[in-house]
Amino acid sequence: MPDTLTVTDNRTGKTFEIPITDETIRAVDLRQMKTAPDDFGLMPYDPAYMNTASCKSRITFIDGDLGILRYRGYPIDQLAESASYLETAYLLYHGELPTEAQSSDWIASIMRHVMVPEGMTKLMNGFRHDAHSMGMFVSSVAALGTYYPEAKDIAHPEVRRRQILRLVAKVPTLAAFAFRYRRNLPFIYPDQELSYAGNFLSMLFKKTELRYKPNPVLERALDILFILHADHEQNCSTSTMRLVGSSHTEPYSALAASAAALYGPLHGGANEAVLTMLREIGSKDRIPEFIKRVKGGEGRLMGFGHRVYKNYDPRARIIKRTAEEVFDVTGKNPLIDIAVELERIALEDEYFIKRKLYPNVDFYSGIIYEALGFTPDMFTVLFAIPRTIGWLTQWEEMLNDADQKIGRPRQIYLGYGERKFVPMADRK
Ligand code: SDX
Repeated sequence: MPDTLTVTDNRTGKTFEIPITDETIRAVDLRQMKTAPDDFGLMPYDPAYMNTASCKSRITFIDGDLGILRYRGYPIDQLAESASYLETAYLLYHGELPTEAQSSDWIASIMRHVMVPEGMTKLMNGFRHDAHSMGMFVSSVAALGTYYPEAKDIAHPEVRRRQILRLVAKVPTLAAFAFRYRRNLPFIYPDQELSYAGNFLSMLFKKTELRYKPNPVLERALDILFILHADHEQNCSTSTMRLVGSSHTEPYSALAASAAALYGPLHGGANEAVLTMLREIGSKDRIPEFIKRVKGGEGRLMGFGHRVYKNYDPRARIIKRTAEEVFDVTGKNPLIDIAVELERIALEDEYFIKRKLYPNVDFYSGIIYEALGFTPDMFTVLFAIPRTIGWLTQWEEMLNDADQKIGRPRQIYLGYGERKFVPMADRK
């Protein structure tokens, strides 16, 4: 059978053969279906892009029904088990796992960029004392770009690569500055002799000791959390990176826009919302009453549900396992008991089963972050740091894709037809 769709437009009786490639049809092929020669032609209407492929990509594969997530073909559980975050970042960006030599070059080229211009400390000091860390992160990423005017020259691969190295290296520094600023603590400068996660922990928690020694269990747990959050195909914030990047703006502004999208409680902001929800529930015996309210349409079970996963989010499973290792060091976060019981009850409830609502990456991550010493305002920042390589890899792929040009969707116009201007004196 041919890979085509035969469509009859019953308004005209005309029949069209539409080619099918990669299980899709090109939306522009619908434009030939008109009722008159000067007709614009048909368009698909797809609010929130529920069923629209915006690009072709070779970076991340998700199978929502089977709960599969692979970066460049490697299953997420194998990467979380055996790789480091920077090794995974190399894989996402270059498409292959690094050799020993490639890995040490990559690590060195990132860690040499961990410092930020001193002016960024002045920017940080301009925020309200209790400014939300994500607000500080989004603003400082955009501001960082003003220190590298050559970043606007996005046509040059080497220029793009240098900004990618700078951003992956510097986002933990900006995040740590925001964390320290809110606590009225002096900024701790990076220590490039430490690992990526270790240096981040040092910039966050170092006190008066000469050199910070990260706890290896916590350092590894953070590295695993970074791996799990590194990319997730065309989610809201990545689609933002692609759309904003399609205007050929420089990558710092595009990345700030993506982080702004991630900030929303329906997206990366959910990890913060989960902790608020668990605190509001307060104890296991109040879970049934909470579930009843959710089923009555009063709010959502934050950290549950996903546009693509209609099965358990594989990342949530790994995070839940990692929590135990963190608690062995930090002591157990009592909220985990409420979360585990909430999951158990929800997964047995027809409302959630029917809608295929399962825990997603945000359900357990905040509980670990809190045990590591972070306050909820930092949780989405902890999502944005590792997702930086995902956003930038997707940006790079978009710029190299001959199919892509500046994104500009159409609309269904339902507003007024032409009207004559009414002078102020004549308005009612
Ligand atoms: C992330 O896209 C990605 O890949 C994102 C991400 C990534 O790595 O980049 O995975 C990260 O953003 C994870 C999602 C974090 N968000 C939350 O945990 C917030 C709570 N979840 C939802 O609001 C919701 O599930 C979404 C936003 C995640 C997905 O929403 P959809 O696909 O648009 O689904 P929907 O809102 O149309 O819901 C379908 C039905 C509705 O019920 P009915 O109207 O059919 O009766 O399911 C219900 C919804 O009311 N529903 C929920 C629910 N999520 C959906 N009901 C209760 N609690 C929930 N969490």
